[in-house]
Formats: sequence, structure tokens, C-alpha cells
Amino acid sequence: MEYKRLGRTGERIPAMGLGTWQLNVNPEEEVRALRYGIDNGAFVDTAEMYGSEELVGEAIRGRKVFVATKVSPHHFRHDDVIRSCEASLKRLGVKQIGLYQLHWPNKRVPISETMSAMEKLVDDGKIRHIGVSNFSVDEFREAQGSMKRYDIVSNQVEYSPMVREVEDDGVLEFCRKNKVTLIAYSPFGHGEMFRERYGGLVELLDGVGKGHGKSAVQVALNWLISKEPVVTIPKASTVGHVKELLDSMGWSLDKKETGVIDGTRDFSKKSIQKRLGFLLKNTGAWARLATKHYSKKNANGGRVRS
Ligand SMILES: NC(=O)c1ccc[n+]([C@@H]2O[C@H](COP(=O)([O-])OP(=O)(O)OC[C@H]3O[C@@H](n4cnc5c(N)ncnc54)[C@H](OP(=O)(O)O)[C@@H]3O)[C@@H](O)[C@H]2O)c1
Repeated sequence: MEYKRLGRTGERIPAMGLGTWQLNVNPEEEVRALRYGIDNGAFVDTAEMYGSEELVGEAIRGRKVFVATKVSPHHFRHDDVIRSCEASLKRLGVKQIGLYQLHWPNKRVPISETMSAMEKLVDDGKIRHIGVSNFSVDEFREAQGSMKRYDIVSNQVEYSPMVREVEDDGVLEFCRKNKVTLIAYSPFGHGEMFRERYGGLVELLDGVGKGHGKSAVQVALNWLISKEPVVTIPKASTVGHVKELLDSMGWSLDKKETGVIDGTRDFSKKSIQKRLGFLLKNTGAWARLATKHYSKKNANGGRVRS
């Protein structure tokens, strides 16, 4: 496993974490897959919204692992943040969360109120570090500016060879300059990479991989991790898939190969932000609905009934 510094802290975290959105389809295999990844050095990323914290708790029981989770935007009032964190700690079965992130901005709640609750959670030892997710540069600055004692150490955003908004909207550059870890989510475009060819991009990744005896999946992850200050959180539900992800490290693309992938075009019009950005950032209502959806789905063993 490769490691990267978390924000400006002295702490180093694995360059790869395992995403846990849309688990609970085949829980036994998913727990095995998570344990395989953890035992080989990966960290874990979850969220109260995913309904996967209990499953993560089961996977990490008795193991030493860095765990990141998120508070949902409809819980951004001070006391709700504290309550959400306590519920996550319980579901995960841990005494402290390594990285606690705001899942999306919510403009309906003053950011200073939310951040003061996050700082209290650090003071109380319930979380070690504060992160955000889906924050623009301005939103990040505002959140950081409202804080008194701690740094925001990370911003979790969509980034993959297919979706490159962070290269154009300033987020990647800001993170680089300010030593904020960029956690790249959906490195396979929510799995679309296995169904869509993205104008030949997937063939290009395949081609680059052939020279290294690697797959397109491994090239995509290696390309992300080769960038500073980027770590990534692919989701995989089987041990076989996790093995393939882990083999994306320990070797390097050369400058020319990196350059060829850098030069490919952006397919960001497909990203969630572009499609639903206004709705997502201006109301927490969607988050409430999503939380309901996933908890119902999990209660029904992976199916949603009514
Ligand atoms: N902060 C946010 O707003 C946000 C938003 C979206 C996602 N995320 C985080 O990022 C994580 C990853 O993103 P994602 O879940 O959207 O999708 P993703 O990681 O881009 O793609 C996941 C898909 O790739 C497949 N896959 C994984 N390894 C594979 C392999 N070796 N060969 C073939 N297929 C493979 C998985 O299949 P199997 O499941 O069958 O293995 C799954 O269908 C999430 O789980 C979540 O933790 C955060």
C-alpha cells in the first residue's frame, strides 16, 4: 500500500480506500471483500446516508483501520451534527472516527454553525479530523474561514479519467497549493466505465495497461494516485475485484503515458454535480430521501419495497 499525508497533519493515510455506497446486496461477500482490502492496507469510506455503516462495523471489528464517514446535509444544525456522529460511532462500533466529512454543502444552514459542531467533536475526541465533500473552492474557503481551531484536511469530490471538473474548476489546484487531501470518488464513473467506452478512453486505458500487464481499472487508479494530493476510494463488492484494485499500486505509469491520459477529454457533463448541482447544494431534502431509500433497501436485504 502507498501512503499519503492527510492534509497538513503529520498523519499518513493509505492512498486507496474502499467506497461503500450501494452495498448490502450480498453482505457476506461484501464483508469478506472489505476485510480483504483492510488487511492489505486500505482505509474505508462510508456515510450515514449509505446505510452501510453497520456492515462496515462488522467488517472492521477487531481490526485497526482508518475509517472515514459523513454527516448528511439535512443534519447540519449544531445538535444534529453531534447526534449523527454519535449514531455513526455506534453503528461502526468505534470510539473515534478518523475523518468526519460534510457530505454536500447545504446553504440552508449557516456553515459556521455546522463547523462549530465539527470542532466540538474533535475537542471531545469523537472524531480525529474534519473533511468536506463536494465543496467548491469558495465553499471550502467559507467553511475554513468560519473555524477557530482546526483545519479542514480533505475535500472528497468526483474525479476519474472520465470526469475531470476538478481540473477546470480550481479544486485540484487549490487542494495542491493548500495541502488539502483530495479524495477522488467514483474513479470508474459509478461503474459506467464497464458499460460505456467514453469515446475510446477505456480502450486507451486498456492499451496503456497492456504494456504493464495491468487492466484499464488499474491504470485509472494508478493515474489518480500518481497525482498530488490525491487518494481514491473505488467501490468493489467481491474479493476478486478488491484484489484487482490493490494491484493498481506498486508500479508507475511513465511520463508519456500519464501525459496521454491527462490529454484526453472531459466527460463531466455526466457527473452528478452537473445534473443535480443546484438541487443538491440548496436543499437537504434530497439527502433525507436518499437516507430513507437506503435504510429501507438495507432492511429489505437489498431490495426496495414500496
Ligand atoms: N461524496 C460523495 O458525494 C460520493 C458520491 C459518490 C460516491 N462516493 C464514494 O465513492 C465510492 C466509489 O464510487 P462509486 O461507488 O460511485 O463507483 P466506482 O468506484 O466508480 O465504481 C464502482 C463499480 O465498479 C465495479 N468494480 C470495482 N472493481 C472492479 C473490478 N476490478 N472489475 C470490474 N468492476 C469493478 C463495482 O462492481 P462490484 O460492486 O460488483 O465489485 C461497481 O459496480 C462510493 O462507494 C462512495 O464511498 C462519494
